[in-house]
Amino acid sequence: FMLKEIMEEPEALRRAILPRIKDGKVVFEGLQLDIRQYHSIKIIACGSSSHVGMVGKYNLEKLTRIPTEVVLASEFRYCDPIIDDKTLVIVISQSGETLDTMAALREAKALGARSLSIVNVVGSSIARESDDVLYTWAGPEIAVATTKAFVTQLAVIDLLAVWLAAQLGRLSADEETRLTAAIAALPAQVEQILSSRERIQYYASQYFNHDSVFFIGRNLDYALGMEGSLKLKEISYIHSEAYASGELKHGTISLIEPGTLVVALGTYSPLFDKAMSNVIEVKARGASVLALTTEQNREEMEKRVDGILTIPDTELMLLPLLGVVPLQLFAYYVALQRGCDIDKPRNL
Ligand code: BG6
Repeated sequence: FMLKEIMEEPEALRRAILPRIKDGKVVFEGLQLDIRQYHSIKIIACGSSSHVGMVGKYNLEKLTRIPTEVVLASEFRYCDPIIDDKTLVIVISQSGETLDTMAALREAKALGARSLSIVNVVGSSIARESDDVLYTWAGPEIAVATTKAFVTQLAVIDLLAVWLAAQLGRLSADEETRLTAAIAALPAQVEQILSSRERIQYYASQYFNHDSVFFIGRNLDYALGMEGSLKLKEISYIHSEAYASGELKHGTISLIEPGTLVVALGTYSPLFDKAMSNVIEVKARGASVLALTTEQNREEMEKRVDGILTIPDTELMLLPLLGVVPLQLFAYYVALQRGCDIDKPRNL
């Protein structure tokens, strides 16, 4: 089911995106929200949905300049959160039934926040209890590890960031047209990545027997690494961690030794040089490096690493949506090589 669901991503993305773009603008039918009434945004979620929240935080802050915080639902409930009626709470959940997320939503509402949920399952508890809901329309997910719902959650939060920025007058009509065209192109670009999955399978066959893997990246690549790492550990049982690359030197680098696999994420081109210097740093300690970058930076990266995966070029804010697809496939093929029960990982 996991592979089937990954292969369904282009269709799921079309359902999530295409009805919401009209004449170069984002349209959310029935959504009355006036963002000018809110001074902060809190994103609440668990697991992979919280990684969508991390991407959302970077993109929402960049486009709207509204302070945005991502809080794990299980922490939110017990941290005496600072929330009032000027706070917009965005709740993200594939199932719409996760207990911690549900409880956090109730707490936020009791404190006066306005709630907007991004949910896959129509009519689920979180969808019903939120002031507004944006459905992802990914279709049912059978595999425990989320894939197609994850990419549609990203698409919806990216559309939301554009919609809110336009409402605030922070995007020119040309910029909005450019961004929506890039969002509309995502399903075909995901198809392109899926068609080159043999290369990903090849790298999985090279690296499936590693005991320890580190995903490193900065900014959007850090958020992407969080999801890549979770996907790998939850289905293959390989110990895997994601680090903000700048933190390597503050401790983690001591764990890098000959043979350690580092998945270096270098899709975010403004920080590409920084990504390269971290690659050099871990290579010098003997790590094997599998890199993920964009087509425009492929040549530069290829000189320094042991393996390379690429995604098509797109707008910066959309890179994690394309970047996660090869990482999902990598996790899938590694778990397959290891003979794991991919759709029903132990203990989950
Ligand atoms: C976990 C799942 O139990 O719940 C993850 O294994 C998921 O895949 C997380 O991301 C949160 O679930 P939901 O439905 O609230 O997005």
